[in-house]
Amino acid sequence: MSEHKRKILITSALPYANGPIHLGHLVEYIQTDIWSRFQKMRGHDCTYVCADDAHGTPIMLRAQNEGIEPEQLIARIAKEHQADFADFAIAFDNYHSTHSPENRELASLIYKRLRDGGHIETRTITQAYDPEKEMFLPDRFIKGTCPKCGAEDQYGDNCEACGATYSPTELKNAVSAISGAKPIEKESEHHFFRLADFEGMLSYWIKGEHMQPEIAHKLKEWFESGLQDWDISRDAPYFGFEIPGAPGKYFYVWLDAPIGYMASFKNLCNDSDGHDFNEYWSANSKTELYHFIGKDIAYFHTLFWPAMLTGSGFRTPNAVYCHGFLTVNGAKMSKSRGTFIMARTYLDHLNPEYLRYYFAAKLSSGIDDIDLNLEDFQARVNSDLVGKVVNIASRCAGFIAKRFDGHLSSSLCEPGLHREFVEAGGTIARHYEKREYGHAMRTIMALADRANVYIDEAKPWVVAKEEGKDAELHDICTMGINLFHILMTYLKPVLPTTAELAEAFLNIKPMNWNNYEFPLTSHTINQFTPLMTRVEPERVEAMLEASKQHLEKTAAATPATAKKGSGNIEPIGETIQYDDFAKIDLRIAKIVKAEHVEGADKLLQLTLDIGDGTRNVFAGIKSAYAPEDLEGKLTVMVANLAPRKMRFGMSEGMVLAAGPGGKDLFILNPDEGALPGMRVK
Ligand code: 2FM
Ligand code: ZN
Repeated sequence: MSEHKRKILITSALPYANGPIHLGHLVEYIQTDIWSRFQKMRGHDCTYVCADDAHGTPIMLRAQNEGIEPEQLIARIAKEHQADFADFAIAFDNYHSTHSPENRELASLIYKRLRDGGHIETRTITQAYDPEKEMFLPDRFIKGTCPKCGAEDQYGDNCEACGATYSPTELKNAVSAISGAKPIEKESEHHFFRLADFEGMLSYWIKGEHMQPEIAHKLKEWFESGLQDWDISRDAPYFGFEIPGAPGKYFYVWLDAPIGYMASFKNLCNDSDGHDFNEYWSANSKTELYHFIGKDIAYFHTLFWPAMLTGSGFRTPNAVYCHGFLTVNGAKMSKSRGTFIMARTYLDHLNPEYLRYYFAAKLSSGIDDIDLNLEDFQARVNSDLVGKVVNIASRCAGFIAKRFDGHLSSSLCEPGLHREFVEAGGTIARHYEKREYGHAMRTIMALADRANVYIDEAKPWVVAKEEGKDAELHDICTMGINLFHILMTYLKPVLPTTAELAEAFLNIKPMNWNNYEFPLTSHTINQFTPLMTRVEPERVEAMLEASKQHLEKTAAATPATAKKGSGNIEPIGETIQYDDFAKIDLRIAKIVKAEHVEGADKLLQLTLDIGDGTRNVFAGIKSAYAPEDLEGKLTVMVANLAPRKMRFGMSEGMVLAAGPGGKDLFILNPDEGALPGMRVK
């Protein structure tokens, strides 16, 4: 390879720390990981960093609903995210969090530099405020009737029924989705980033091929409609970093999120991994920086981010690469169809490399949406990976093992064919480099077809039966194994785990872009084990079924406060299987003690007697009962729920109550027929 050794830093968008990774997210992580692995195989110094995006109102509220601190929530989600990524073979060089000392330090530094440069302005604005919850309400936490079409239950800024956009103050019968209270208007001082100060810099930046043409086009439109000041502060209560010199004001999550890229890299440098933070981030850096993101967040990355970096004396990215959204079977991912598939649900049923290959086959450098058609997915994986690539090895390996004791011939009988395969490496590398993975996969599969034609024509299974043709058989199979070796090298960025199995089978050092041209001759290989098996349709079905069930569980766990309406009976959702139901151990419990919980609006602490001893449970029924009304009453409890650590202590079960919520929640009155500990079923 004649190219010099490049120093490249790449990132994927930081996933929010309030929910699991799903297949929609994975398009991006797989796309970025393939690029990172490819660059590393080329011998470049490529560093791939990411982090959890841990701040903001939804994360704060979710933690409150779970009765835990936000720090506990983000620590739990961080573990889940990283396990999902690791199991999909996403090989980050560092995975950090925006709620980190490095990010606090960098966000403060960038803010102070912007402020001192005159790019921050404060002014007072009026916003919707929840007087009960005592907090300002982001638009998505206000619901009401659409002022245009009258549709009920619409969010604060747009109507899903008629598509109208409006300000939350225009909504009719607006209520806070958090408490149900009627929002009032309240003033507060906010900090704004003066984006227009960077007009000159940005107009130059747009022309510099730092993004795809479609995005540059969009950017020009935004640009021409005027660069508005950006509100970068939020009032307490907020989970984030307090703004230096502005007590009670916090950085808006989107201010410190992209700084999280820098913070993750800094954390890696602090671990003395040999990289120098300043070399990568100083204004005159010679290193390369690329951000992979979804097209929905281009605005933040192509306008605010380069402006913030420039205003604070740091370098700007070489490029921001956007991708489209994922559809499943031609439609938006759907909970009821089971196509809203979590990473973990997929992993429970299918080999992650199938999906890596399928996405690679569909990905281009453009921003079009990509479709996961599950029938096509099975057909393509089975035909390309199992039927073409792995098949080459399995057609040859048996003879090499049985007839030649694992030894390959001393030379290649078809050097021209081998050379053809080697030479295709340049084209394939160019496709990878340009993120044209679909083209790369098609080029590789055309070679795989070529290899299979060679074997079909050479007919080793016929030659094997003929007297005195051992040398010919040996040569054919050696040739086949060598072609397989090259193909697996080309596929390694996409199929790292299968490639590792292939390396073990071929008994070779890690394959990279510098070593595949050397033929494997006079070399001993290992026993062949099937490197990949076919996708089984039953597993795909089982994954869809599990996705439906998973989403029902999460829907059931969503706090009732997010729903409106007085006493409306919710339609019964999809059914669960008897086995799921049978696992729940329901018992009659006597409430022997009920107490207020310091600092909790909704919870009461209950001591429950279920016959064999007492249990401590925190129950969200304070809206309906005073503690003294509960003592002595009976309730039904889920006795075998795993204990859960809440902010206030351990909760060892769950009590069941009926009713629409609020003041109308009913538990059982003592009855001679029901005794503590009795099973309910
Ligand atoms: O849209 C999102 O999911 C954001 N959490 C992405 C942040 S990317 C970067 F700016 F941090
Ligand atoms: Zn409407």
